[in-house]
Amino acid sequence: MPQLNSVYRHREFQDLLTLSGYERAGGWNGLKATLEMSPDDALYAFHRSGLRGRGGAGFPMGRKASFLPKDSGRPTYVVCNADESEPGTFKDREILDNNPFQLVEGVAIASYGVGCERAYIYVRGEYGHQWDVLLRAIAECRATGRLGPDAFGPGAPFDITLYRGAGAYICGEETALLESLEGKRGQPRLKPPYPAVAGLYDCPTLINNVETLAALPPIMHRGADWYAALGPEKSPGTKIFSVSGHVLKPGNYEIVMGETTLRDLIFDLAGGLRDGREFKACWPGGSSVPVLTAEHLDTPLDYESLAGAGSFLGSGGCIVMDDSGCIVRASWRLAHFYRHESCGKCTPCREGTGWLEKILGRMVHGEGRLEDLAMLESLFGRISGRTLCALADGAVAPVQSALELFRDDFERVIEQGGSPVPEPMGVINA
Ligand SMILES: Cc1cc2nc3c(=O)[nH]c(=O)nc-3n(C[C@H](O)[C@H](O)[C@H](O)COP(=O)(O)O)c2cc1C
Ligand code: SF4
Repeated sequence: MPQLNSVYRHREFQDLLTLSGYERAGGWNGLKATLEMSPDDALYAFHRSGLRGRGGAGFPMGRKASFLPKDSGRPTYVVCNADESEPGTFKDREILDNNPFQLVEGVAIASYGVGCERAYIYVRGEYGHQWDVLLRAIAECRATGRLGPDAFGPGAPFDITLYRGAGAYICGEETALLESLEGKRGQPRLKPPYPAVAGLYDCPTLINNVETLAALPPIMHRGADWYAALGPEKSPGTKIFSVSGHVLKPGNYEIVMGETTLRDLIFDLAGGLRDGREFKACWPGGSSVPVLTAEHLDTPLDYESLAGAGSFLGSGGCIVMDDSGCIVRASWRLAHFYRHESCGKCTPCREGTGWLEKILGRMVHGEGRLEDLAMLESLFGRISGRTLCALADGAVAPVQSALELFRDDFERVIEQGGSPVPEPMGVINA
């Protein structure tokens, strides 16, 4: 099965944890090529590459960078979102662990394009080892002048500040992240204005995911056209999928968009299921996306195809369930997560995620009623699309799709007095 390690270059080259090792593997060629262009030409190259944001929403990176006003009279910031907290998603972690200089180079490339002298990397609170690796990488860059007063040439400064989160999923949402970075409570802001216009400290700010930014060095070194020619026109490039759950070889796989199907990813790259088991369901883009069934296994992995199948590419966290799992229990588990992580600012989310968890919980524990299904259905539309941020939509999507596609399972769990799958270790204290 074709894989292309363009972001995961540590899988092709040794010693990428030292600056000299990274340079031997061609590191810094992307920034070198970028610095030979004007910032506007760099922005145009981002745009031409077709690179889309890898954090979840898939917004075109170059277009977002072009929204930043050039004459605001205020500093411009680049913020790298390394909060990676979406259940089933662990792709950024591998970049931070093994290829930190490619991220630093990518942040520098984006910063040159938008005219930023000070960038930030917001690191998930639980990522202690990754934090240490980044600290060492940045110290080495400073010691060698790659970061500092002359980073972009004599008298052209650029530097990166690391910031550590405190373990809240909502701080991965870009405006909550900015609040947190400013030292405030991590709750989303009303948009517009979008961060491109009024972001960190009210200044123009480009926020991108780790994988998005780490994709830039090979794009700028090998050329935007090279990247744009990989995969479908609207979803070019490589994408890393984290595969977890009921597969024999869970892990991260970087593939060319559109060339690999969901079936290839699960059954070939991730080793398939245990003997005697059948595929039941998967959430292909993290826990916030609609669930898919065996019928969708031949869907190519790219933004448009997964949307056409009724789900989303999201963050690329593909969670697989075989026929030993219970979709109702899984839905309850996800509802618990979203209720717990809701920041509480909007009533439909604060109250609605609690209702989802409560109703699903009583089904799982043998106290469900068939009327609960209609109650669930009436809740979806009262939560989705009525809140400040997409956490609430992400709480509804997996439950709503599960009920649509596996209604028989819900009815059976209610009629048979609870979930057939026993409480796993580390029970939820609901
Ligand atoms: C509840 C919630 C959690 C999110 N968590 C993350 C995250 O952990 N990492 C991330 O990169 N984006 C996350 N996002 C998406 C960000 O808001 C934002 O779209 C992204 O950082 C932009 O970068 P990109 O364009 O490179 O994808 C989250 C969004 C929501 C609504
Ligand atoms: S949708 Fe939920 S998490 Fe997002 S701002 Fe509203 S209450 Fe907070």
